[in-house]
Amino acid sequence: MIFVPFDRPVRAVFIGLGRIYDLNVRGYLDNPDVEVVALVDPSEERRAQRQADWPGARTFSCAAELAASGLEVDAAEVLLPVQLHADGALQMLGWGWHINLQKPMCSNLAQARLMMDAARTSGAVLRVMENYLFYEPLRKLKETVESGEIGDVVGYHMKMVGSAHGGWDVPISSWLWQWEQMKQGRGILVFDDGWHKLATAIWLFGPVREVRAWIGSTSVGPGVDLDAPSTIIWEHENGIRGVWDITVAMDMYLRSDYYTNDERWEVTGSRGFARVNRCTGRGIQQPSLEVYVDGQMRAYHALDDDWASSFRDSGRHWLRWLRTGEGPLLWSGEEAVDVLRFALAGYMSSASGSRGVAPAEVGDMVASGGPAS
Ligand SMILES: NC(=O)c1ccc[n+]([C@@H]2O[C@H](COP(=O)([O-])OP(=O)(O)OC[C@H]3O[C@@H](n4cnc5c(N)ncnc54)[C@H](O)[C@@H]3O)[C@@H](O)[C@H]2O)c1
Repeated sequence: MIFVPFDRPVRAVFIGLGRIYDLNVRGYLDNPDVEVVALVDPSEERRAQRQADWPGARTFSCAAELAASGLEVDAAEVLLPVQLHADGALQMLGWGWHINLQKPMCSNLAQARLMMDAARTSGAVLRVMENYLFYEPLRKLKETVESGEIGDVVGYHMKMVGSAHGGWDVPISSWLWQWEQMKQGRGILVFDDGWHKLATAIWLFGPVREVRAWIGSTSVGPGVDLDAPSTIIWEHENGIRGVWDITVAMDMYLRSDYYTNDERWEVTGSRGFARVNRCTGRGIQQPSLEVYVDGQMRAYHALDDDWASSFRDSGRHWLRWLRTGEGPLLWSGEEAVDVLRFALAGYMSSASGSRGVAPAEVGDMVASGGPAS
């Protein structure tokens, strides 16, 4: 089926009103492309809290109740715990709702296939939101690399340090389902937050040919094991290699308005390098992007480096896309499946002593949770 853009504001609903709603809502506020018609969450407290943003919206405790209400819905902003992504998406796509689903898309390939099939059958659009692709310092990094300013790309690395001090409050309820995910072999660093890093790798340098990984484990409390220290390396089909190191520094204070996640991206070129110094947190208090070429360092002091702005811009892009159908979805369901395969190849590699695994060779064994979990 061919997507037909809406010639009026999109009638949208929020499904899940928890922690990340605070950032996802930014794409919807003061946006003439959208009319928020309903809010859905089993928590009465959350519904009452979020109703303040949308006094005219109706509230429901579950999506099925909304679907049965007769209220017309065009699109859903799906902010559910990851375990509910697949079933939730299948249901909503089945009702013909276009969906902007939070990452990770789902936990295995079997679920991903069902979701893609459901979108094809219903003709509804499945987008997996990737706010990092809208973070201005990363966009400028991509532009710099593609301009040839640092010469030919000879490699790149990403760094991520999780800490337990600083940042905003995350309710225990938001952690509980993450801990369950960890027990299923889908850790918060490599898989949940890591999803973004893998997505930026594909976005920057294209399809991945081979992945090697060594995924570790650190106990941080009874029954809570974080998936670090971990190192993942890969080669893109164009020959560029990437490295990503993931560590936890539990006692390190990290200034952040959001999660305590210290991140960096550094691309090395034949003539220089370009580095994004931070994203979610405020670890390095220098300009968010620095570019070194021929003995000179150039620093970008005026980029919008508030991580929340990437949610605003991703949300606006989606809603504009629904109004025009123009340009890439950033990210489509297919692109999200590539990210999933990348992650699963990492698990498969780590489980087999870090042998090289092609994302394309990841089959149903890992897809259904086999050796990876
Ligand atoms: N893009 C990012 O950087 C980013 C950051 C954090 C979280 N996330 C993703 O956002 C999603 C939600 O994360 P969160 O931290 O807000 O979780 P959360 O637990 O704070 O919020 C989830 C909400 O969903 C509600 N819910 C549970 N079952 C429901 C159902 N059947 N129908 C409707 N609502 C239901 C819960 O009551 C809760 O309010 C996850 O997929 C997570 O991975 C993305």
